[in-house]
Amino acid sequence: GRVLSVASECAPLMKTGGLADVVGALPGALESHGWRSRVLMPAYPTVLEGAVRSRRIWRSDDLFGGPACVRACTADGFEVLLLDAPHLFDRPGGPYSVDHHDHPDNHLRFAALSWAAAQIAIEGTSDRWRPDIVHAHDWQAGLVPAYLRYAGSAVPSVMTIHNIAFQGVFDADQLDRLNLPTGDFHPGGIEYHGAVSALKAGMVHASRLTTVSRTYAEELTTPQFGFGLEGVVAERRDRGEMHGIVNGIDATVWDPARDPHTTPYSAASPGPKAENRASLLKEFGLAEPSGPLAVVVTRLTHQKGVDMLLEALPAFVEGGGAVVVLGSGDPGHEQSLREVAAHRPDAVGVRIGYDEPLSHRMFAGGDLVLVPSRFEPCGLTQLYGLRYGTLPLVASTGGLRDTVVDSTDEHRASGTATGFTFTDISTTGLRDALDRAASLYQDQEAWREVRDRAMTTPVDWAASGAQYAQLFQELVR
Ligand code: ADP
Ligand code: GLC
Repeated sequence: GRVLSVASECAPLMKTGGLADVVGALPGALESHGWRSRVLMPAYPTVLEGAVRSRRIWRSDDLFGGPACVRACTADGFEVLLLDAPHLFDRPGGPYSVDHHDHPDNHLRFAALSWAAAQIAIEGTSDRWRPDIVHAHDWQAGLVPAYLRYAGSAVPSVMTIHNIAFQGVFDADQLDRLNLPTGDFHPGGIEYHGAVSALKAGMVHASRLTTVSRTYAEELTTPQFGFGLEGVVAERRDRGEMHGIVNGIDATVWDPARDPHTTPYSAASPGPKAENRASLLKEFGLAEPSGPLAVVVTRLTHQKGVDMLLEALPAFVEGGGAVVVLGSGDPGHEQSLREVAAHRPDAVGVRIGYDEPLSHRMFAGGDLVLVPSRFEPCGLTQLYGLRYGTLPLVASTGGLRDTVVDSTDEHRASGTATGFTFTDISTTGLRDALDRAASLYQDQEAWREVRDRAMTTPVDWAASGAQYAQLFQELVR
């Protein structure tokens, strides 16, 4: 079968978070199950620059205010479809914003992406390709299932929610401009409290809804996690149309035995991990700690619990631990982290920014990776931690809860422990988990047992790729 996967980011071409990792890895995961994918994303300037063998396969004289085309090309060795619409995407900054300011026309930019996707699904491309199924990711692709529905298309669609906190809400006066029928502007359709939500449009109109872990699928039906859309989720769940499929990691990119950014090691020969640890300490000018070296790689936002981390770190460091943080986001968090590092330059290293190679060195060099999220649809850094033997210490929520087994006495005895989890998601809960990790670290033999289990836990796409394939299969039958 043929899949058209539609998203605003795709690794390695453009990435601000885990969405890109997943969109970039799924085609490979589906291939062995007989599904060939084409990923459609915007032609951001940096992506277009690196594109080779570009062919136009779809065009429009006026796509919401300007001419546009879709180019099939190869960028960074990845085959991709790029929506080339200069009036929408030829601008500086990241995919959504420039200098911390969201583009005011984001709803229009991603409606255009969704419109082009729907047209390709309906009419096919000039290179004679038409998908059997459309896979829409997050609010930026949320209008695809809606446009397909309005056109009466029989092509089924799957809407995957990676993060319900971002809903693509815009003013109802835009309906006309975006080719959205006013008849669908009601609470059972695309209306959301008097405005329009692109994510809700996808959730209502897609053939099926999925999200990125089992626990998050359940959490989404509750007011605490549903951000106002819990009713829509619950309704689809009750009809058996909501599925939680946990993310995997791209095993070709995230493999400690074959990582070009680090000194190779594996579960069978973990020795060289110590070299990565020593280089990481050196890179950040930290002293050899008596306790574990923790790493954090994250967007610095409320979701990620950075405030709890800031409160829990001093005691962890006092107790002999060290920590290295890589992230960017909330300027207040950035500033506080810099201050903590300035206060204890021997034990705390902070790098503000986005740095993919450094993230690899951190996962390879750390003893622990900390993920104290308030909510986490899936989370990928804990999976990288497992793979690299950098034990994940995580809040017990969403996909974090589904992927990490706490090092309780019981789990250690049964040989199933892979990290540390805490259910009281607060500074106290985090502190307590850090204490437990620090004390297990003093028993190096026990630590190595958990690490070995972590490294051999399957975190690739094998199981979840099969689940997506099965879902697609059901829909095209
Ligand atoms: P989210 O998508 O909510 O940000 P995930 O854990 O799913 O969370 O994915 C985050 C991805 O982005 C991971 O691949 C992580 O390594 C990467 N990442 C986050 N911040 C940075 C950064 N500052 N530098 C490099 N990689 C980062
Ligand atoms: C979102 C979520 C994260 C998830 C990622 C990929 O950004 O915040 O938990 O891992 O999407 O699905």
